[in-house]
Amino acid sequence: MGDKPVVFATRKLPEAVEARLVRDYEAILNPDDKLYTADELVEISAGADAILPCHTEKFTAEVIARLPERVKAIANFSVGYDHVDTAAAKQRGIIVTNTPDVLSDATAEIAILCMLGAARRATEGVALVREAGWKDWSPAFMVGTQTTGKRFGVIGMGRVGQVAAKRARGFDMAVHYTKRSRLDAETEAALGATYHATIEELLPQCDVLSLHCPATPETTGLLNAERIALLPKGAIVVNTARGAVIDDAALIAALKSGHVAAAGLDVFNGEPTDIHPEYRELDNVFGLPHIGSATLETRDGMGFRALDNLDAIFAGKEPVDRVA
Ligand code: 8YV
Repeated sequence: MGDKPVVFATRKLPEAVEARLVRDYEAILNPDDKLYTADELVEISAGADAILPCHTEKFTAEVIARLPERVKAIANFSVGYDHVDTAAAKQRGIIVTNTPDVLSDATAEIAILCMLGAARRATEGVALVREAGWKDWSPAFMVGTQTTGKRFGVIGMGRVGQVAAKRARGFDMAVHYTKRSRLDAETEAALGATYHATIEELLPQCDVLSLHCPATPETTGLLNAERIALLPKGAIVVNTARGAVIDDAALIAALKSGHVAAAGLDVFNGEPTDIHPEYRELDNVFGLPHIGSATLETRDGMGFRALDNLDAIFAGKEPVDRVA
């Protein structure tokens, strides 16, 4: 190995990102895109100065404690960093970064797709066309929920939430939101957004509820039975944030009773292999496999942003996206 810092990329990265990584660092790549076990992560990290992981690798306190002294940074290829125990990293003096901004547009697009897919019964419609079960048409056939002109509620009006709200305005939707710290007046006015001080005040105003908050101990199970009961009957629930913010049993009960007309979900508790089985069965669930950021432009942007952070760290500077 030469003088360059060694960076361990846990998954196969976009071509342009790997090209820059290989140009500027000694890279440990994963050409087969294997999902490493915790033991493998620790083992391969033995030769690394930094790790560039995705949300698919869990850096628990236990894994972090086993990382070699040599590892100085975990530069995530993701905006969410709930897969990293940041307190444990901080204690070990390991810098943790994320990739905000660059995926806001792509993820907001998927939020809108989830909204429309749920509202217009895309799961049933796609099945009818693909499985040759489409036999007839009538005025009552596949009638769904129109979103134009309705109320679009946002929990977590951060970067992605704001872009999703802007897109929803393209459907003439009225934006309502709650956020720990209220948006400044200019941003609020630009979004035409109505602020609600609490989730409980927001929920009755949501024909569509779109979740954009990070997964933290405080937001785990945030959308529970009591709160779902505050939504208007027939509301649509959209989640492009993290599965953990939803109490699955409560949402599934509401989808079955019709209190929630449909849900558009890009993220799930237990994803990918252990999601609640009823999400696979309910016709009023429009589900996608966590593809919020899955466009070439965005995946390149995420990789470059992670590399920008590593460049700063190895130049002895403060990385822009430090989260621990
Ligand atoms: C990413 C995401 O694809 O960035 C995030 O937090 O949820 C996704 O859009 C994924 O996390 C990549 O590691």
